[in-house]
Amino acid sequence: MSDSSSGILNILRNSSDYVSGEHISAELGVSRSAVWKSIEKLREKGYIINAVSNRGYHLSECIDLPVSDEIHRYLDTEWLGNKIVYRDSVDSTNSLAMLFASRGAAQGTVFTADQQTGGRGRMGRKWISPPGINLYLSIILRPEVSPAEASQIPILSVISSIRALKRMVPDLPFVIKWPNDIYCRGRKISGTLCEMKAEIDRVNHVVVGTGINVNMPPPDDSIRDIATSLLIETGSEYSRVKLAAFLLEEFERIYNKWLSEGNLEFILIEWNDYSLLKNEEIEVRTATRLVSGKAMGIASNGALKLELPDGTERLVYAGDATLHGASQGS
Ligand code: BTN
Repeated sequence: MSDSSSGILNILRNSSDYVSGEHISAELGVSRSAVWKSIEKLREKGYIINAVSNRGYHLSECIDLPVSDEIHRYLDTEWLGNKIVYRDSVDSTNSLAMLFASRGAAQGTVFTADQQTGGRGRMGRKWISPPGINLYLSIILRPEVSPAEASQIPILSVISSIRALKRMVPDLPFVIKWPNDIYCRGRKISGTLCEMKAEIDRVNHVVVGTGINVNMPPPDDSIRDIATSLLIETGSEYSRVKLAAFLLEEFERIYNKWLSEGNLEFILIEWNDYSLLKNEEIEVRTATRLVSGKAMGIASNGALKLELPDGTERLVYAGDATLHGASQGS
């Protein structure tokens, strides 16, 4: 959004009455016709701005687009989201964030989009990303930790997502499916894709990308049984902007704590309380094999603890888990 559009929004938001074009142009130091052009652009974006001759302009409705100005109305963080890059449409906010990160963008830069044309999930899957309804958000991090330690970041992400969802809709029964999916009443509502550029002993940057189904109506047959949204679960629409702000606040808090503590010990109880797989017989498909066992929670380094049939414990660091005998996605 241009500086004058942002400035106009600020002026209109701070006034309960109409504000004259003359006043706005004097405040911002731009011409009356520039004010008018910016008002037209804001209307095209979806803001409802009434104009009455001799009185001026009045903002009657804001939009629920996860643009920087809107998120900053709610956001209370120190460093995360100080800069938010928004696109109406992008292939993938993770790809955009990885590109910006490789060109030196700062830690804490956030990328959002109304729509993704090539949204990506874990294990090469697609993340369906239609416009107007869901949240797609990626964060650049530059932690001074080893690549092995950075592999704990997805756990931080899933806990911050679940805390943000709980702030939004406290009564919904959200659960975590290892490693970083959030389910609600048996269907997936959120996922995280973390990507990293690293040398053998040093992380250059990490991108944490989160997708949350917010106001998605019941989908067609292909994903009806596996995907859900806040709208489907409650019958009400929710603000993507507020949810983005909540997510960033929760992530900053948890990430700062993780850096100062040096491990995941401080969220293990919370993670295990939310875990869908707790004490269940499961199968985990890793890159090389299928491992079966009883899920015993996660270790302080983020690995899944599996009790094998012979009673020994195995730590699994990456993979896809399913309840024993269930189809993928359960
Ligand atoms: C998964 O569950 O497999 C992970 C899904 C991650 C989707 C998000 S949406 C924002 C960011 N951009 C992407 O292309 N993917 C992540």
